[in-house]
Amino acid sequence: MSMSSRVADERLRSKIMSAEEAALLIPPGGTIGMSGFTGAGYPKAVPRALAERIERSYKEGQPFQVKVWTGASTAPELDGALAKVNGIELRLPYQSDPTCRTRINEGSMEYLDMHLSHVAQTVWQGFLGHLNVALVEVTGIRADGRIIPSSSVGNNKTWLDCADKVILEVNSWQPEHLEGMHDIYYGTRLPPERRPIPLVYPGDRIGTPYLSCPPEKIIAVVETHTPDRNSAFSPLDETSRLIAGHILEFLEHEVRKGRLAPSLLPIQSGVGNIANAVLSGLADSRFERLTAYTEVLQDGMLHLLDIGKLIVTSTTAFSLSPEALSRLYERLDDYRSRIILRPQEISNHPEVIRRLGCLAMNGMIEVDIYGNVNSTHIMGSNIQNGIGGSGDFARNAYISFFMTPSMAKGGAISCIVPMVSHVDHTEHDVHVIVTEQGLADLRGLSPKQRAEKIIERCAHPDVRPALWDYYRRAVSGAQGRHTPHLLDEALSWHQSYLHNGRMTPPTSR
Ligand code: COA
Repeated sequence: MSMSSRVADERLRSKIMSAEEAALLIPPGGTIGMSGFTGAGYPKAVPRALAERIERSYKEGQPFQVKVWTGASTAPELDGALAKVNGIELRLPYQSDPTCRTRINEGSMEYLDMHLSHVAQTVWQGFLGHLNVALVEVTGIRADGRIIPSSSVGNNKTWLDCADKVILEVNSWQPEHLEGMHDIYYGTRLPPERRPIPLVYPGDRIGTPYLSCPPEKIIAVVETHTPDRNSAFSPLDETSRLIAGHILEFLEHEVRKGRLAPSLLPIQSGVGNIANAVLSGLADSRFERLTAYTEVLQDGMLHLLDIGKLIVTSTTAFSLSPEALSRLYERLDDYRSRIILRPQEISNHPEVIRRLGCLAMNGMIEVDIYGNVNSTHIMGSNIQNGIGGSGDFARNAYISFFMTPSMAKGGAISCIVPMVSHVDHTEHDVHVIVTEQGLADLRGLSPKQRAEKIIERCAHPDVRPALWDYYRRAVSGAQGRHTPHLLDEALSWHQSYLHNGRMTPPTSR
C-alpha cells in the first residue's frame, strides 16, 4: 500500500511535508498537545525534529523551550529527545522517562502530576492556559476528512478541539484495520451542562470511531512508518507470582461470600510485572466471562481475550510487547468487537468507574501502617513517574488494591513504613494492601485495626518487630489515640536511609 493512500482527503495532500518543515511551524515557547499513552500512538518524527531545532537554538544563543502536554508516558523519541536538549519548560500529566525524571528532580523542568481524567476538563476550564499546537499521530485520514485514530486515544480529541493549529503524523506502520476499534465520545460538557455519560457496560459504544478536526486548522501532515515503543515482556518473578496468588485467593473468597459474582467486576490493572502476574493468574482461575474497564491493554489481558476468559476490554491505549502486538495486529478483525479504545477522559471517568464498580489493581512505592499510599515520590521529594490513572480508579473502585514487594532496593528499604513520605491515595481510598507476604483487607476497619493487620499480613518478617515496636509505643505514648503517631520518629526511617543507605528504625530497646 502506498503511503499517500493513508491521506485520502484531497484538501490535505498539499499540506504533506517533512518533519523538519513541520517542526519549524511550532512557535518557540508555545504549548503543544501531543498524542501518546504508555508508549503507544505518540508522534515519532516531529518531536525529534523539534529537539534538533531546539538544540540548534541553544548553540545559536537564542534558546527556547516548549510546554508539553500528552495523554500519559510516551517514548525516548519524544520525552527523551526533548528532555535531553533541555527543550521542555513544563510537562504534564504523566511521564516515565529517565531523562525527564532527572530534569524534573534536578529542578530544570516543571512537572504537573495530574489525575489523567482531569486533564481534558482542566484544559476546557482554561486553567492550563492556551494550547498553540496539537501534534497527533493518526492511522489515516479518510476522503471525507474524518480521522482514524492510532494505537492510543489519550487526550487527542481535546487537543484537536482546543489547539489553534494541528500537525498530524500519519503512521502507515499502524494497521489500517484499527479503523472501527475506537469510540470517541463527543458528548462531554462542563458543569452546569454536564449530563450522565450513557455507558453502563464496558463494551458499550457511545460515540463515533473517528476524530474530527476542521481541515483548515491542519497546517501540516507528516508521513511516518515507525513502530510504537513496545517493551519486551519480562518473565514473571516469584514475588509477583506470590502477590498475584494472594489476590486470586481473596477474589475466590469474595465470590464464596457472595460479595462478587464469578464473572467478578470490570478489571482495571496497571502495567508491569505484578499486574501481568495477576492477569496470568486469572487465566488459570475458575472465573469466567470477565470484563475489563481500564486504561491500558497489556500482554496478560490480550492472553485472557485469546483464551475467551475475558469477553471485552475497554481501554485508551495498547501497552504490549512486540510479540503480543504482532499477534493483535495480525488478527485485528477477530479482536475488533472485543476491544474498545476511548478518550482517557472516558476510560478514566470517575462517574463510569463508580457505576461499573471496577476492581482496581495498582502498584505503589510505599504504604504506611494506617493505609495511606505513596505511588509517586521516592523519599518524599523525588518523583518516579506520576499518579497516572491510579487515583481515578482507586477513589471510585468497588475494591481498590495496592500492590508492592514488601522490601525495595535489595532489602534496604521497607515498603511498609510508619508514615509515608508523600501521599497520593489516602487511607479512605485504599481497600486492600498486598505484598508477597500476604494480603490485608482493610475494609470496615478503624485506623488501629488497619495498622495491626497491615503489619502482621504485609510487612517483611525482618521489619515486623520494628513496626510493632513503633506502633505499640505510639499507642501508649502518642498525643492522641485515634491514629497514633510519634511525630519525631515517623519519618526517621526514611532519614536513616538517606544518611546510611539503609532503613534502620529506632527501637525502644
Ligand atoms: N522506597 C524507595 N524506592 C522505592 C520503593 C521504596 N519503598 N519502592 C520502589 N522503589 C524504587 C525502586 O527501587 C525502583 O527504582 P530503581 O529502578 O532506581 O531501582 C523504582 O522505585 C520503581 O520500582 P519498581 O519496583 O521497579 O516498580 P514498578 O515498576 O512495579 O512500579 C510504581 C511501581 C509505583 C512506580 C508504578 O506502579 C507507578 O508509577 N504507579 C503510579 C501510576 C499508576 O499507578 N498507574 C496506574 C494505571 S497504569
